Amino acid sequence: MPASAKRSETPVTNRTSNQKLIAWVQEMAALAQPDAIHWCDGSKEEYDRLCADMVAAGTLIPLNAAKRPNSFLARSAPTDVARVEDRTFICSKDKDAAGPTNNWMDPAEMKKIMNGLFTGAMKGRTMYVIPFSMGPLGSHIAHIGVQLSDSPYVAASMRVMTRMGQPALDVLGDGDFVPCMHTVGAPLQPGEKDVAWPCNSTKYIVQYPEERAIWSYGSGYGGNALLGKKCFSLRIASVMGRDEGWLAEHMLILGLESPKGEKTYVCAAFPSACGKTNLAMLIPPQGFEGWKATTVGDDIAWIKPGADGRLYAINPEAGYFGVVPGTSMKTNPNAMKMIERDTIFTNVAMTDDGDVWWEGKDGPAPAHLIDWQGKDWTPDAGRPAAHPNARFTCSTTQCSSADAAWDDPKGVPISAFIFGGRLSQNFPLVFESFDWNHGVYMAATMGSEATAAAENQAAIRRDPMAMLPFCGYNMAEYWEHWLKMGSKVKHLPAIFRVNWFRKDADGKFMWPGFGENMRVLKWIVDRVHDRADAVKSPFGMMPRHQDLNWQGLDFKSDVYDGLMAIDREKGREEVESQKELFESFEDKLPPEMEAQRKALLARLAEAPAVWRVNS
Ligand code: GTP
Ligand code: SPV
Ligand code: MN
Repeated sequence: MPASAKRSETPVTNRTSNQKLIAWVQEMAALAQPDAIHWCDGSKEEYDRLCADMVAAGTLIPLNAAKRPNSFLARSAPTDVARVEDRTFICSKDKDAAGPTNNWMDPAEMKKIMNGLFTGAMKGRTMYVIPFSMGPLGSHIAHIGVQLSDSPYVAASMRVMTRMGQPALDVLGDGDFVPCMHTVGAPLQPGEKDVAWPCNSTKYIVQYPEERAIWSYGSGYGGNALLGKKCFSLRIASVMGRDEGWLAEHMLILGLESPKGEKTYVCAAFPSACGKTNLAMLIPPQGFEGWKATTVGDDIAWIKPGADGRLYAINPEAGYFGVVPGTSMKTNPNAMKMIERDTIFTNVAMTDDGDVWWEGKDGPAPAHLIDWQGKDWTPDAGRPAAHPNARFTCSTTQCSSADAAWDDPKGVPISAFIFGGRLSQNFPLVFESFDWNHGVYMAATMGSEATAAAENQAAIRRDPMAMLPFCGYNMAEYWEHWLKMGSKVKHLPAIFRVNWFRKDADGKFMWPGFGENMRVLKWIVDRVHDRADAVKSPFGMMPRHQDLNWQGLDFKSDVYDGLMAIDREKGREEVESQKELFESFEDKLPPEMEAQRKALLARLAEAPAVWRVNS
């Protein structure tokens, strides 16, 4: 039994008087039958103890303390490396309420399966009671959840990723919480030796939207297991937002401060592993002296109308669970600095001197590594040393670009929504919607190419608002909710589409991206404040070459022209193919969406074979 379970515990009744919580914990313990129960207080001592226990158990490997202080490496089971979308279920009473883009099962039927799987599932393990606040403690936009888990890796990660422990219990008082039940599904027989990364080949990630409850079985990895993240803050919270008039989105929150001190906040939605962390921590390049970019969040935004008629956003999280491969001093210096210490790395490679390595890190690959599966690796191995979905877990407090208001319970006022997929063909660098409804249509029809963040994903797919795997209800009703915001919110943010990923005929990215994305962001900021020009294209309002600041970057007008071009026939094919998505919603599809689609077809019909921004 871990040391953390052996030490004397403060009686539960001194920790909380919430009878519903106490009763639920008892009921769940009776079902899962753990050997011990540990109520997390969220202290540093507790975190250190959890990590020490995991080192002793072989789950964590301490990294070289001189090179990477207070940091650890975890290697997951090779079968447990990413979100499992085909094992994720929205169990609303009605199949229609989940919609055609979600897996659905009848809640009563699912509960039978869950009860069976969870019976005795925690035998031989400690059940951690993990109270957490999604959002600044006590914020009117925040909500409390309590996760029960038999994974110390999850308990430690939740301390980094959320406001976890006694303060969350204190805010909860006798109020309501979202119950989040989790097991890795690997009970231990008496005397049985544990493995480093227990999990089960059967996996279920289950949301009950009407009850606002979550049950997760069989995985210890990321969004499958840190239930405050995708399960609560997106799938359950999107339903709360629909019912209560706010938005829960897969969005980063970024502050942009001009040399004159004018502050503009934007939210940006990109599918998993498509650049939210990079954009959230961007450093303005040469030519943007005096500009500051600051980070509020890198993955999730909860957005509520304020009394002044603007939308205010908080980051419900308190840490980053970011993609490691590709992170370098060139792509994300802020993240590189942030993960120099006090970080849990999962599924990266280890160097001979006890540091970490991954594909895309600065400098050449070392001559020898231990790869993410614990095997010897040399540069000629023919396989990546780090898993493509390897992640760092790191507190927001370590981020040097953290915005002054990142923990402000009021949230920050949002002036623009930016949507972007990973599209190597056809889609221009940036355009702005003509109005709110057009913007909602642009976001709803977003497409993106597959990444390693989820298992078995189609090569290219529609990913409306980057929410395809995360919307807890019928996507057509979610669009309706977005459309309705248009008449409810007095000062609506402007809506933009961006695409950093267009490739040329040689398969090379046409746009340098990363810090250089600031050039696009500044145009967006200037549009929001009514001081930047644009021309009308079939897709939306677009900046010409002369409308962007090119100081410090030699980016020729003719290259820009190619980056912004719209091929009429390919555009038409794209719009035609949206029909399939729309038709899948049958009569639930808001008529505005089809009207927008038709309007775009009409604009394309009048366009030249290749529409060019500079002619
Ligand atoms: P989740 O945490 O999975 O939700 O994803 P995220 O959107 O935060 O992903 P992240 O920022 O970690 O995305 C990393 C991937 O995006 C890497 O493959 C990067 O190389 C790529 N990326 C980010 N920004 C840019 C860019 O401006 N240009 C190009 N070409 N690639 C980029
Ligand atoms: C994503 O896949 O969008 C993530 C990582 O942010 S996970 O927490 O695993 O969902
Ligand atoms: Mn994400």
